[in-house]
Amino acid sequence: MSNHSVQVSDSATNKSVSLPVLSGTIGPATIDIGKLHKETGLFTYDPGFMSTASCRSAITYIDGDAGVLMYRGYPIEQLAKHSNFLEVAYLLMNGDLPSAQQFSTFEHEVTHHTMMHEALKSFLGGFRHDAHPMAMLCGMIGSLAAFYHDSLDIDDAEQRRLAAVRLIAKVPTIAAACYRYSIGWPNRYPRNNLDYCTRFLHMMFEVPSEPLVLPPVAAKALDLLFILHADHEQNASTSTVRLVGSTGANPYACVAAGIAALWGPAHGGANEAVLQMLNEIGTADQVGKAVEKAKDKNSGFRLMGFGHRVYKNFDPRATIIREMCHQVLNELGVHDPLLDVAMKLEEAALKDPYFIERKLYPNVDFYSGIIYKALKIPTEMFTVMFAIARTAGWVAHWLEQNVTPDAKIGRPRQLYTGSPARDYVDIAKR
Ligand code: CMC
Repeated sequence: MSNHSVQVSDSATNKSVSLPVLSGTIGPATIDIGKLHKETGLFTYDPGFMSTASCRSAITYIDGDAGVLMYRGYPIEQLAKHSNFLEVAYLLMNGDLPSAQQFSTFEHEVTHHTMMHEALKSFLGGFRHDAHPMAMLCGMIGSLAAFYHDSLDIDDAEQRRLAAVRLIAKVPTIAAACYRYSIGWPNRYPRNNLDYCTRFLHMMFEVPSEPLVLPPVAAKALDLLFILHADHEQNASTSTVRLVGSTGANPYACVAAGIAALWGPAHGGANEAVLQMLNEIGTADQVGKAVEKAKDKNSGFRLMGFGHRVYKNFDPRATIIREMCHQVLNELGVHDPLLDVAMKLEEAALKDPYFIERKLYPNVDFYSGIIYKALKIPTEMFTVMFAIARTAGWVAHWLEQNVTPDAKIGRPRQLYTGSPARDYVDIAKR
């Protein structure tokens, strides 16, 4: 829908163009620059996509200034309180909350796709025992395309849906297998009588020699974390999934690319980096020094788990998870000195003018790492945990992209800063 336009004119060439301004359901109006280059010869320059909407999407809405996050119109606070991760995955994929019957069918289907092909075990066995689980996960998920040929035809709606269900079902199984391989434990098959999160915890921690007894808060906290991490509109990894998807690549390749993008410390790797940072700070009395270091641009040190590209007031996910963080630590009776460091850091940064002026608040990953630590999830698995949850968002975006009528291959242009044309010089004359 277009209700007004903006005029762009280039004084150097006297060319001008009227560009329509599009309105979404809510959120900022968006200039459609599609014909800018054709009419004026100009490109736009927007590193980091600070002002660029890369696509239309009806999945997730964020208002960074107001601290609002909604999946399919439902506020994250309501979903966190009343829903569960699998229902949220259904919502993201399908657009509406499921009826009881639809949920039961979906849950049954996901549950019955959780096993991984036995041959994948040999693939896993090719990794060094000390490989980072994100490296293994990325490779293993990419390899699924070699195993599930019946879900590679992206023009077939049922095959697309099957691939999405498979990914949601198998990523936790593969993630747990990667972990067990790294510590030399035998693989554990998924148990169908357990819910999604409890099943994952069993695959992670159950040993053949004795039953696993889990405190109820463990699966509850995991489910909450998965809900909060399930989607975040066009973040770096989702945009990567979409860019790869725009080429017509298969869904497993797209999600493997998303996993690679998530790995970086500025994105999903932040929860692992938070724990490393808290360990490095060591004790609460060292927090002041760390804050000063983070303010010194020459130090190259940033407070991990602080700041967000979109949330410039507070991260609504951080508010929800902060509460759960305390509940987990209380119920498990964990007293972790790192939590003292974290709380002191939060307090110090929130009242420091440097952080206030730049609107740098604790983000979701500040607290998720502490919860994962309390649940005995090893630090190098933190980003893998994020990947399990975000798979729901990645497949939802990939499904949406594949039914977008004006879909095009993603192919940005550039502002060239290299040498002008020059002639080749023979090697003897250089
Ligand atoms: N510690 C210290 N200073 C910071 C931090 C930080 N964590 N984050 C931003 N700044 C400063 C930055 O130096 C800059 O200062 P100045 O204006 O004086 O040059 C200003 O704040 C703006 O920073 P920016 O890098 O331009 O902001 P951005 O929107 O490009 O970056 C960010 C967002 C998340 C990459 C960044 O805040 C950061 O590196 N945070 C730490 C890593 C982190 O926690 N990432 C997880 C994000 S949430 C999970 C997810 O969605 O993936």
